[in-house]
Amino acid sequence: MDILEAIRTRKSIRSFKPEPVSKEVLEKVIDIARRSPSAANTQPWEITVVAGEVLDNIRKGNIEMLTSGVTPEPDFPYGPYEDKYKQRRVDLAIQLFGLMGIVREDKERRAEWWQRGFRFFDAPAAIILSIDRLLKGVMPLFDLGLFAQTICLTALNYGLGTCIEMQGVMFPEVARKFAHIHESKRIITSIAIGYPDWDFPANKLESKREPIEDFVTWYGFA
Ligand SMILES: Cc1cc2nc3c(=O)[nH]c(=O)nc-3n(C[C@H](O)[C@H](O)[C@H](O)COP(=O)(O)O)c2cc1C
Repeated sequence: MDILEAIRTRKSIRSFKPEPVSKEVLEKVIDIARRSPSAANTQPWEITVVAGEVLDNIRKGNIEMLTSGVTPEPDFPYGPYEDKYKQRRVDLAIQLFGLMGIVREDKERRAEWWQRGFRFFDAPAAIILSIDRLLKGVMPLFDLGLFAQTICLTALNYGLGTCIEMQGVMFPEVARKFAHIHESKRIITSIAIGYPDWDFPANKLESKREPIEDFVTWYGFA
């Protein structure tokens, strides 16, 4: 797949076909993605790839935590978002709920929508991304972001869709327990991965972007 087409067509996928993704295909994706750059080539990423019973246990554990009202305590603080960033978050929710036909007052469907993320959108596989607690500062997180994007782009080449998602690891103790992720590792985020269900309304979302004039500053050009 052409690189520009990949960047333009990648989008977050929030419903998948039940078809499993083979370990061989996931291995190919990861093998390409390990070419991602990182500060001083430190390659801080550590990933745990889960499917089948292990993934089902994590989904179940996440939902149990969520529905019993446990406050999520991610390994790395998430948000809060203020100002225009908060607004963009609201805009995204409006777009998603609009496509899904979920009205504001429909608490049940809103709650079900929120739970989907904690179930990894029912994807047949998920990738949990972590870094060693030895690693300090923001650079390893920056590197992990590059790695995550590279996975998402590479996945497209194999007909796979992805959603990078915090929700899957907002209760890190669950993934830690079922995927045996050591306490010395900080779980940062996760990626739901599988073959997209293109009939699912939210998968038709074309998320917004600000025009380049709003965030680029140029100097020294004619
Ligand atoms: C670090 C990170 C965490 C995210 N967490 C979630 C999440 O928990 N739930 C979700 O539905 N989407 C999540 N997303 C997906 C974003 O909402 C999505 O990337 C954004 O709306 C832009 O849409 P696009 O990916 O379709 O281009 C996350 C994305 C990133 C990069």
